[in-house]
Amino acid sequence: MKILVATRNPHKLREIREILDLPGLELVGASERADLPDVEEDGETFEANAVKKAVSLARLSGLWALADDSGLEVDALGGAPGVRSARYAGEPADHAANNRKLLRELSGRRRRRARFRCVIALSSPSGECRTVEGICPGRIAEAPRGQEGFGYDPLFVPEGRRLTFAEMDAAVKNRLSHRGRALRRARDEWVNILRGARQPA
Ligand code: IMP
Repeated sequence: MKILVATRNPHKLREIREILDLPGLELVGASERADLPDVEEDGETFEANAVKKAVSLARLSGLWALADDSGLEVDALGGAPGVRSARYAGEPADHAANNRKLLRELSGRRRRRARFRCVIALSSPSGECRTVEGICPGRIAEAPRGQEGFGYDPLFVPEGRRLTFAEMDAAVKNRLSHRGRALRRARDEWVNILRGARQPA
């Protein structure tokens, strides 16, 4: 079973491949399909963006397509950066600038509770789509720490831990992360589709 993964982010693709490791499942990144356009993420929710990406690329490619839309919600900032996580500090997306802006906004604040949220959407070639969500609660560190991962990983300390995601092995991050939680739910709920059974969409 071949599934197109609607992302050009190599870090996301690697994490998705590590977690959705099912026999016979081939996950092809959108970067390998130069003919496919970038889909604008203009929805107001993670779910709307994930569905839009999965359905657009499934219809255009004729393949099943899986999309991840994810981001960071900080309580003291009213849920920002939220769906605008990738471009929090402006265009073009710049992870270091986003992290600097987040630290500036939280400067002097003791209330640093946050969560990562991830919605995974899976669309059939005809555009029938289902979604699952994963959440990872935690808090924002006072300064960046660690070299692993991507995005806000150097600033995010998952609940009950001391290390940031960027200080953890990939396997540990995947066990705790919003993406890991959503993808394990996807694997359980959609196992027949992912194994290639021709079940109705
Ligand atoms: P999008 O889902 O492509 O709109 O972008 C998600 C953005 O949220 C990324 O560019 C990161 O800034 C942030 N993000 C999502 N997941 C993670 C993660 O696992 N670690 C760190 N940052 C993340």
